[in-house]
Amino acid sequence: MGADLIIKDLHVNVEGQEILKGVDLTINKGEIHAIMGPNGSGKSTLANTLMGHPAYEVTQGEIWFEGENIVDMPPDERARKGLFLAFQYPSSIPGVSVANFLRTALNARRSVQDGDGNGNGKRRGVSVREFRQLLKDKMAMLKMDEGFARRYLNEGFSGGEKKRMEILQMAMLKPEIAILDETDSGLDIDALRIVSEGVNQLTGPDLGVLVITHYQRILDYIKPDRVHILVAGRIVMSGGPDLALELEQRGYDWIKEEVASNK
Ligand SMILES: Nc1ncnc2c1ncn2[C@@H]1O[C@H](COP(=O)(O)OP(=O)(O)OP(=O)(O)O)[C@@H](O)[C@H]1O
Ligand SMILES: [Mg+2]
Repeated sequence: MGADLIIKDLHVNVEGQEILKGVDLTINKGEIHAIMGPNGSGKSTLANTLMGHPAYEVTQGEIWFEGENIVDMPPDERARKGLFLAFQYPSSIPGVSVANFLRTALNARRSVQDGDGNGNGKRRGVSVREFRQLLKDKMAMLKMDEGFARRYLNEGFSGGEKKRMEILQMAMLKPEIAILDETDSGLDIDALRIVSEGVNQLTGPDLGVLVITHYQRILDYIKPDRVHILVAGRIVMSGGPDLALELEQRGYDWIKEEVASNK
């Protein structure tokens, strides 16, 4: 059994324009990777591509997830198999409550976990009682108000509430690989700590995490094993946690210069 998520020479077009120009990245369960990089460098493009968003066209390369090339796999199947994306700009679903949404998502995920991996297994749907208890526990972990579960998904949620909602979803679904796209943006200091602690409680040998962020701050809480710098659609530098600190102090210009001089 190789690594859990292997991205090989990934090229991605958006609206006919090449945004990712050959990304290589391997993430194993139990590892935390961070991606940093200037605005527009392609970080969210990478996240959206991994989830199979139809606007992102893979023109070259491969994405291996648990031994299977998933480039042509539809997004819902990727999610059921345990790939999870917390969006930078989550959209709302009017008329669907948080609890209903989570229960549906959990049932879909469980059918894969218990089955043959293709959703063909015995469907061990989560019972109402089990679901309520699980939701209660996870919401307590994230210090969320119980009334939250009855609200419509993301409708009128504050920035911080949306982020907490995503971590709640992650806690409920127990993905294999989670991609957090700027989960820290818009969080006040307390919320950042709560959300990070939530993520930390979920990390362990069964979960690989890719944290996309602009700021070193969240990495004080969620300690990355590796930090990668994405510039203009390519990972131009990788290092340990110190790289994030160095970026905070020096910005991106020195990296861009170094990349230019190596061309
Ligand atoms: N759906 C889309 N339609 C049009 N252009 C897009 C789309 N998605 C991404 N792009 C373009 O691709 C480039 C990379 O965008 P992306 O969102 O991946 O950057 P990013 O690194 O996440 O930036 P930020 O740090 O600002 O979040 C940008 O020029 C952006 O305009
Ligand atoms: Mg982005």
